[in-house]
Amino acid sequence: MLALTSPYLWYTTRVTGMVTLVLFTLVIILGTLVANRVGGKKIGRFELNELHRSITMVAMAFLVIHILTTLLDSYVATGWLSPILPFLSHYRRVGVALGAVAFDLMIAVWVSSLLKVRVKNQSWRFIHWFSWLAFASAVIHAYMTGTDAKDDVGLALVAACTLGVLVSALWRFFARPARAAGRTALSPLAAATASGEASAATQRADAAARRSDVWRR
Ligand code: HEM
Repeated sequence: MLALTSPYLWYTTRVTGMVTLVLFTLVIILGTLVANRVGGKKIGRFELNELHRSITMVAMAFLVIHILTTLLDSYVATGWLSPILPFLSHYRRVGVALGAVAFDLMIAVWVSSLLKVRVKNQSWRFIHWFSWLAFASAVIHAYMTGTDAKDDVGLALVAACTLGVLVSALWRFFARPARAAGRTALSPLAAATASGEASAATQRADAAARRSDVWRR
C-alpha cells in the first residue's frame, strides 16, 4: 500500500485541530447567548444567531481538513473508518475514538439544524443538546491525542476553551429565561418536571418562533 507521510500533514492536523476547538468554543458561547435571549440594539439576537451559524460552517470546514490530513498521513495508522466508528484506530485508540464520538455528535447537531424546518422542534432541541457532549469528548480527545495540547500555549488554549464552555453551561442553566424554563426537561439529564400544559404552551411559542425564523431566512 502507498505510504504517505510528511511533517506538513502533521502540522496541518495539529493547527486545524486547535482552530476547530477554538471555533467550536465560540459557536457554543454564541449559541448560549442566543438561547438565553441576549441581544442589544446594535447586535441583536438575529445577528448573534447568524454569527453562530456562520462560524459553525467554518468550524466544520476546519474539522474536515483535520480529519483528511489525519487519514492521509500514514504515520498515524487510524484507518479510513476511524473518524466515524470509534475504536477502529490502531493509533491512540481511545483518544481517536473520542474524536470520532465528537465528530458523530457534531454531524447529528449540524444535519438536524440544516433540516430544521423538517425536524420536530422537540427533536431538534434534544439533538442540539448533544453539542455539550461533543465538546467534552473533543477536549478529552485533544488532550489524549494531541502533541501541543499537553503543554505551554496549547494547554493554555485548551484550558481557556474548556473554561469558556463551562461558564457558558453554568450561565445557560442558572440564567435561562423563564419562558424557556420548561424546555430544560428535554435535556436527558433534567427531571421531566414540566407539566403537559406548560410544554404545550412552549411548543406553540416554539412553532411561532420557528415560523418567524424561516420567514427571516
Ligand atoms: C470535533 C471533533 C474534533 C476536534 C474538535 C478535534 C480537535 C483536536 C485537537 C485540538 C487536537 C490537538 C492538537 C495538538 O495538540 O497537536 C487534536 C489532535 C488530533 N486529532 Fe482531532 N479533533 C476532532 C476529531 C478528530 C477525529 C475524528 C480524528 C480522526 C480521525 C482526529 C484525529 C486527531 C489526531 C491524529 C490528532 C493528533 C495530532 C498530533 O499528533 O498532535 N481528530 N484534535
